[in-house]
Amino acid sequence: MIKHILCIGAGYVGGPTMAVIAKHCPGIRVVVADINADRVAAWRSGEPPIYEPGLKEVLATSLGRNLHFTADLEAAIPEADVIFVSVNTPTKTFGRGAGKAADLQYWEKTARTILQHAQGHTIVVEKSTLPVRTAEAMERILKTGNAGARFDILSNPEFLAEGTAIADLERPDRVLIGGAETKEGRAAIQALVEVYGQWVPADRILTTNVWSSELSKLAANAFLAQRVSSINAVSAICERTGADVLEVARAIGADVRIGPKFLKAGVGFGGSCFQKDILNLVYLCEHHGLEEVARYWESVVTLNLYQKRRFVERMIHAMFNTLAEKRIAVFGFAFKADTGDTRDSPATEVCRELLAEHAHVCVTDPQALPSARRDLHDAGPRLTFEDDPYAAARGAHAIALLTDWREYRDLDYERIYAGMEKPAFVFDGRNLLDAARLHAIGFNVYSIGRPDLSRL
Ligand code: NAD
Ligand code: UGA
Repeated sequence: MIKHILCIGAGYVGGPTMAVIAKHCPGIRVVVADINADRVAAWRSGEPPIYEPGLKEVLATSLGRNLHFTADLEAAIPEADVIFVSVNTPTKTFGRGAGKAADLQYWEKTARTILQHAQGHTIVVEKSTLPVRTAEAMERILKTGNAGARFDILSNPEFLAEGTAIADLERPDRVLIGGAETKEGRAAIQALVEVYGQWVPADRILTTNVWSSELSKLAANAFLAQRVSSINAVSAICERTGADVLEVARAIGADVRIGPKFLKAGVGFGGSCFQKDILNLVYLCEHHGLEEVARYWESVVTLNLYQKRRFVERMIHAMFNTLAEKRIAVFGFAFKADTGDTRDSPATEVCRELLAEHAHVCVTDPQALPSARRDLHDAGPRLTFEDDPYAAARGAHAIALLTDWREYRDLDYERIYAGMEKPAFVFDGRNLLDAARLHAIGFNVYSIGRPDLSRL
């Protein structure tokens, strides 16, 4: 019976996941530890360090009762029955596998800290997304040197998406738990099943062996990203042929075998995980000599880079082949709506390319401006930031919409048009806006994978 849970890593996954577990399991004491003291202080104050709809309310249900945040990891380890490890696993930037393999230094450091401080029996749960067979390395580390401790390792990858994290955690499509096919392994799986079973229907809790669980997480992200790259590839054909990607997506999505979700063409996928996890999968394939499989998955990332480049090239071409000294208002910097997260956001690359063309770029975003300032801190004086989208667009030659924030759909575009340089352009990188209406106002409108509505 699990009484104490510790989660190492209070980020986008650790914080929301533990808040939901604590809410549904009032009999379990949940402690979340992080090395970043500012993050810990923010969680403790009830004002989460990340923007996620509904998170603050869920946090309030258990904060200070059975949910606690701490920077003192070592003190929290001995009492834990279960330790979720939810630290970041970014792409390696140095040495062997640089640019593809996962950087496991934070992960291994965590394993060693657990080994040093654990007492009695502890279930260690991989929550972070990891290369297949990481649990094996974890087990080897944990089996060395602490005679007073015994460990079982489980894989329990997280499938939440940012912006909908709370709904995804409250009503998951599935919870996946992988464990060793031994008596102890099965008992550890059962203990974790009982935690999730307090709010997740039994038929949504899947149990597998550890390697299937680890691989399923990478494969799920690869499939999702592949759908986005596939519809983006179709969008490029649409722009050449007069087909409309919205109509094509509706037509192919009506086939129940394909389904309508994840068929939104756009400026390219972003976020901290899709590219990282696919490259990790590519590295794994190369390691096992599966060259063709590696190239297949790599093409999903290649297409994504092409889509971002294509977006800027279309802007340059439409605006008479020069952006020099023109003001461009960038609407949205987050990698998707309803988050302040800008990790691997397509907006970073688009802004950098616009600045390389000597455009004056003014970025606005309802949640991501602090992060955007950090990401582009070295961009120079041509880059500015504005809270107010109307101010961002004032005097601009063009608007580039890069994040699908709903509020951008409801702006007063007559007012925006009146304050812009003419001819005024809109490049809708998310097919969010009513292109026909904007065209009627006077804009030249370029959407993704749709016919141009130009007045030139
Ligand atoms: P994050 O960077 O937001 O959070 C990770 C946290 O771990 C940070 O706060 C960091 O300070 C802390 N940390 C690092 N090393 C530590 C240590 N030794 N001790 C204590 N704390 C430490 O990352 P994230 O977005 O929450 O992602 C975590 C993992 O979950 C990654 O493997 C990611 O691939 C996976 N994942 C992320 C998402 C998502 O939507 N962000 C969804 C599913 C899975
Ligand atoms: C994604 C997965 O959806 C989660 O299941 C997974 O847990 C998570 O990665 C992870 O492992 O980190 P997330 O990146 O938060 O979640 O957000 P998504 O909704 O998947 O969007 C990713 C990117 O694809 C965004 O830039 C989004 O704008 C783009 N996208 C998505 C499209 O361009 N078109 C679509 O149809 C869907």
